[in-house]
Amino acid sequence: MASGQLSRVEALACAGCRHACHVMLYCDTTTQLFGRIPIRHVVLMQMRFDGLLGFPGGLVNPSEETLEAGLSRELLEELGVALPISVEDHVDSCYAPSSSSSSRQLITHFYVKKMEEEQIREVEKAAASTATDHGQEVLGMVRVPLYAMQGGGGLASFLSHSFIGNARSQLIDSLLRLNLVSPAELQKALANSLKIHTKA
Ligand code: APR
Ligand code: MG
Ligand code: MG
Repeated sequence: MASGQLSRVEALACAGCRHACHVMLYCDTTTQLFGRIPIRHVVLMQMRFDGLLGFPGGLVNPSEETLEAGLSRELLEELGVALPISVEDHVDSCYAPSSSSSSRQLITHFYVKKMEEEQIREVEKAAASTATDHGQEVLGMVRVPLYAMQGGGGLASFLSHSFIGNARSQLIDSLLRLNLVSPAELQKALANSLKIHTKA
């Protein structure tokens, strides 16, 4: 287990800890950008109220609900759809870096769920219409561009934005683990995203 990570059981045993659950929803697609660049997969993230990119989800209270039920509740608020999340969708749990807003340690639990393209479209539609958090805690859903374009456009540019907590590494780890981007493509995108930062 990587440093900072802990098992589900260890995480739930922490009496004084706060817990937050977030999920990466994704699907395969045959769509091509401009009719020539394969998009390959749709990966959903969100622009948060604080201007940072993150995954849908939020704070859950394990003394009142399971982690997965809490995550489903958060998804209903943020995406406007009731999405069942199961223990099998759980990827990892880890300690979040301490923040000044609370003295209680935050543990973040990360989930991944593969869906059909049509379901992803439904999520996007509901998130922009019926979701109660739309325009408030969630400013909009975004798709992650996984391809590379001339001059660092695509994944490299996306990775150069600012992310909440460890959402950026959760994204990178998931892209690799699920083979949504090859290790070589990811290396290149990471190197280019650093160059974009240096230029700014
Ligand atoms: N990795 C690590 N930490 C994260 C991640 C992530 N990918 N995403 C969010 N967090 C942290 C946030 O910093 C926040 O402190 O987890 C906590 C809860 O996540 P949110 O999605 O922000 O929680 P939510 O329940 O949707 O929002 C409720 O929390 O951020 C506050 O005041 C804010 O009203 C908001 C409230
Ligand atoms: Mg929320
Ligand atoms: Mg949230």
